[in-house]
Amino acid sequence: MATLEDVLSTIDAEQGAALDRLFALLAIPSVSAVPANFPDCARAADWLAHELDDLGFEAARHDTPGRPMVVGSAKAKTRDAPSLLFYGHYDVQPADPLELWTTPPFEPRLADGPNGKRILGRGACDDKGQLMTFLEACRAFRRNGGLPCNVTVLFEGEEETGSPSLPAFLTANAKALKADLALVCDTGMWDAATPAITTMLRGLAYEEVTLHAANRDLHSGLYGGAAINPIRVLARILADLHDANGAVTLPGFYDGVEELPEDVAEQWRGLDFDDDKFLGDVGLSVPAGEKGRTALEMIWSRPTCDVNGIVGGYTGAGAKTVLPAKASAKISFRLVGKQNPERIVQSFRAFVKARLPADVRAEFGSHSSSPAITLPANSEAVRRASRALEAEWGRPAALIGSGGSIPVVGSLKRELGMDSLMVGFGLADDNLHSPNEKYELTSFHKGARSWARILAALAA
Ligand code: BES
Ligand code: MN
Ligand code: MN
Repeated sequence: MATLEDVLSTIDAEQGAALDRLFALLAIPSVSAVPANFPDCARAADWLAHELDDLGFEAARHDTPGRPMVVGSAKAKTRDAPSLLFYGHYDVQPADPLELWTTPPFEPRLADGPNGKRILGRGACDDKGQLMTFLEACRAFRRNGGLPCNVTVLFEGEEETGSPSLPAFLTANAKALKADLALVCDTGMWDAATPAITTMLRGLAYEEVTLHAANRDLHSGLYGGAAINPIRVLARILADLHDANGAVTLPGFYDGVEELPEDVAEQWRGLDFDDDKFLGDVGLSVPAGEKGRTALEMIWSRPTCDVNGIVGGYTGAGAKTVLPAKASAKISFRLVGKQNPERIVQSFRAFVKARLPADVRAEFGSHSSSPAITLPANSEAVRRASRALEAEWGRPAALIGSGGSIPVVGSLKRELGMDSLMVGFGLADDNLHSPNEKYELTSFHKGARSWARILAALAA
């Protein structure tokens, strides 16, 4: 009988081949936001289906109204083993601005870093490197007699665009996907030496608004003064969204926002988060959110409103004297507690409409919507995963929140009644969604070893 040590040794011995496999996936520019890359998304899905096939999974690509899903399943070597659903996403964020990359984003390579070798490329961490840690653990079990749990794998290609096809897909495939527990590898460690289990994610509501004024762009000398400028109207409305204390002014915005339970607040204080280092690492110094809150509260347990982009008028080289016919902005709200994404969207739209002067019309569009999620922090699965992570990293796992959003976690709960165990090996300086995304080789290697230990622990 092969032991867990044998499985871990296989992972060690397979490191070079595992890296080749990851590089093949990273070389596919599966950017879900850009139509020109839709065929690449399909290629990444096919690549994963083939990879699963190779691992002895019964696997297939499933087309959806958007990017394809990949589902694979494999039985445990023993009967009565628990059933797990592992989720990852093969789509990545656009790589731009390209000129800021030191190496081409879809030509993955290893580079030296302060913590040893690192894997460079778009998706190295989010989420291709992370999802491959799990497949490498499965491969090692297979080489050593089989999986300790029944495993179904679900790979999505639309996570970075808000998972539009996911809820319907989960419902339609409930029977195949329903398991005792979901595993999600799309989060981070506490720091480079300390593993983590994430139990809270913020939700997201993302709106786009365009203000239309004159029926065409105008000469700003001939019309300026008499003709209303939609950029000015938009700027004033956006500025009104926060008060002087950094609080969001939308009516009803804080409905459902709760103060942290004292035990959680206490546990977070024990994490010894360093506000100065957190901001200092990105060239900042003063937390800019609600007055009276710590930086950790601002990113984990308080809601936000952020303008992600503004477009209007002339933005090319040199000067052009123009009074634009329209102006638009992309605005996102990170949500916590029981905040309702639909109600916040309605409140935002009413807020804008109430501030429109004569001759200005607003047009709205929604991009994504998911409520915040809090998972049980003292379940049996969390206890077992903690012990497994501690065995691998030599330090207890931190229980953490995260400011980011992963729509599938809420969907799994709502559509299939499943809780998720969120374990990931990303680091704060991995440059997710930024130029020069990377994943530490240690994250990739010890990540696979961690999943092997977690699978063994969940099976026991
Ligand atoms: N993996 C991230 C979210 C994340 C990163 C959670 C690090 C915890 C730690 C995910 O791919 C992501 O970027 N989500 C988007 C969701 C959106 C596009 C619907 C986000 O949070 O902006
Ligand atoms: Mn991700
Ligand atoms: Mn992402």
